Amino acid sequence: MELSDAIVYAGGDFVRYGDAKVGLLTHGLNYGTGCFEGIRGYWNAADGELNLFQLREHFERLQASTKTLLMSLPHSVDELAELTIELCARNRFVGDVYIRPLVYKAAEDVGVRLTGVPDAFAIIAVPFLPYYHAPTGLRCGVSSWRRIDDTMAPARAKITGTYINSALAKSEAQLNGFDEAILLSHDGHVAEGSAANLFLVRSGTLYTPDPTQNVLEGITRRSVLTLARVELGVPILERALDRSELYGADEIFFTGTAAGISYVSSVDHRRVADGTMGPVTRKLSETFARVTSGREPAYRSWLTPVYANRRVGAA
Ligand SMILES: Cc1ncc(COP(=O)(O)O)c(C=O)c1O
Repeated sequence: MELSDAIVYAGGDFVRYGDAKVGLLTHGLNYGTGCFEGIRGYWNAADGELNLFQLREHFERLQASTKTLLMSLPHSVDELAELTIELCARNRFVGDVYIRPLVYKAAEDVGVRLTGVPDAFAIIAVPFLPYYHAPTGLRCGVSSWRRIDDTMAPARAKITGTYINSALAKSEAQLNGFDEAILLSHDGHVAEGSAANLFLVRSGTLYTPDPTQNVLEGITRRSVLTLARVELGVPILERALDRSELYGADEIFFTGTAAGISYVSSVDHRRVADGTMGPVTRKLSETFARVTSGREPAYRSWLTPVYANRRVGAA
């Protein structure tokens, strides 16, 4: 399907993407005054079902982001979940999807501010395309760009404007021949990738920067922490991590809605162990794949089926 023919939710209605327009002077476009989510839908071919992962949790984070930006959502979390199910059903997806709820300041005028500007809301859903192509692991470089600090812009909110930080870091990494960037915080501790949280394993313990390290509080991060604790029983430490701890790690991986669980094979040209996927990463990836494909009954509540909730079936 052409993008212009996709059904989106915008302006309080389901419309064609090609008919949903924003003006050139739109506040959110000019000043980055918006916030958004990225939600993944996993297609289960055997069941003919599209399962949305942690749907409510994403809308709860969107609510928190909008509050930070003095914005308001036109719907409750339950209504947003319903609208998203309806949107996916109307598009009759039969494959993995990526869903992008977006709230932005909609005034078409000049003057940067958050107050006294109306908000607009949209949900766009598109087929999901693999985020990384790195069958032999991601080659990462520590970025010369520091992760935005919470004293400059809210780091734990998912704000459109602050993604310039991610874009600068990612592009620098790729221009330097790496696949992905690792950003340090202003005080030199490890923060995260350009659009994914970072974990490392050392001597059987799983480490990840704690939420005060200017990281986005990832929903995949939270899910992976639960799976590591409950299913793998590995010790977990959330704390500040030094750059040199990356060089001594036995395993490093990223987590994210788009990234899934993606392993890192080198950092700053130093191989992570032997450069292959380590055992903790492998076990977590396999468990996560079972969860997202609906094969782990204990975690069915993390999934919201689209078609079981709607009479209209997949195409
Ligand atoms: C900067 C940043 N950090 C971390 C993440 C991972 O968060 P989540 O697992 O909720 O997708 C993302 C993904 O959206 C991100 O953009």
